[in-house]
Amino acid sequence: MSDEVAAVPEGIDLNRPSAARVYDYYLGGAHNFAVDRAMGEQAIGMWPDLPLIMQANRAFLRRAVRYCVAAGIRQFLDLGSGIPTVGNVHEVARLDAPDARVVYVDIDPVAVAHSRSILGDDDHCAVVQADMRRPDVVLNSPQVGSLLDLSQPVAVMMVAVLHFVPDSDDPARIVAAYGDVVAPGSVLVMSHATDGGGSGPTAEHRQLYTRTATPMNMRSPAQVTALFEGFDIVDPGVVFLPLWRPASPDDVDGNPERFTGLAAVGRKR
Ligand SMILES: C[S@@+](CC[C@H](N)C(=O)[O-])C[C@H]1O[C@@H](n2cnc3c(N)ncnc32)[C@H](O)[C@@H]1O
Repeated sequence: MSDEVAAVPEGIDLNRPSAARVYDYYLGGAHNFAVDRAMGEQAIGMWPDLPLIMQANRAFLRRAVRYCVAAGIRQFLDLGSGIPTVGNVHEVARLDAPDARVVYVDIDPVAVAHSRSILGDDDHCAVVQADMRRPDVVLNSPQVGSLLDLSQPVAVMMVAVLHFVPDSDDPARIVAAYGDVVAPGSVLVMSHATDGGGSGPTAEHRQLYTRTATPMNMRSPAQVTALFEGFDIVDPGVVFLPLWRPASPDDVDGNPERFTGLAAVGRKR
């Protein structure tokens, strides 16, 4: 998307980078502005592995969606869904479950605008612009009401989003608010940035994100594990991104710590 021709949705500040658009840039997407590319390049300069880490995150998301479908899940609530790139949740889910339904939720108006234009009139998917820290708003949205049946298992996806939620917002309370309303057998899919074992210059990187509306909060494996209260974490547990049920030898890296992202999936008791 070039800045000149892009229809800039209302409320977009072209002078401030957005985490969603910088992420899109790392993934090689086209939905970013000059300010995002500049921040992305600066971050990659500090930490050359960043695009690789983001791609490993996206690969985890795809493997986790297929796990959910294999477990019988047909409905997905994707919180902090980002700008749709190849391998969206609905595309992956429909490979094995053509009737899968997905509600995408993001706080970023650009991510939401692109999600809406990509989904078009797909009546099995919807997009909500909302703050996932407000479970009441998300869960009472008309889109969730019409597409998801909360009496049946749901996959609640929190992939690379909770590190944008500071401790002061009580992430455990937020996760529990979603966990409390979904049916037993529902699945919580999570990835989360961590300092533990990582090789990246994480302090500088965190500092960079203070320019966006969503600064970063790294958490340890123990802190991520604690967020799964009420869920049984499935094998292999809380692990670095490439180690979560790799589907092919290409998914695994000889030095998984360099990914500095944790992945885990839990099933509600
Ligand atoms: C790194 S992207 C992850 C996108 C996708 N989940 C994935 O893993 O590929 C993080 C997304 O979370 C969104 N986000 C951050 N804080 C949020 C909040 N409080 N509520 C909803 N979305 C949020 C950002 O706008 C961004 O699109």
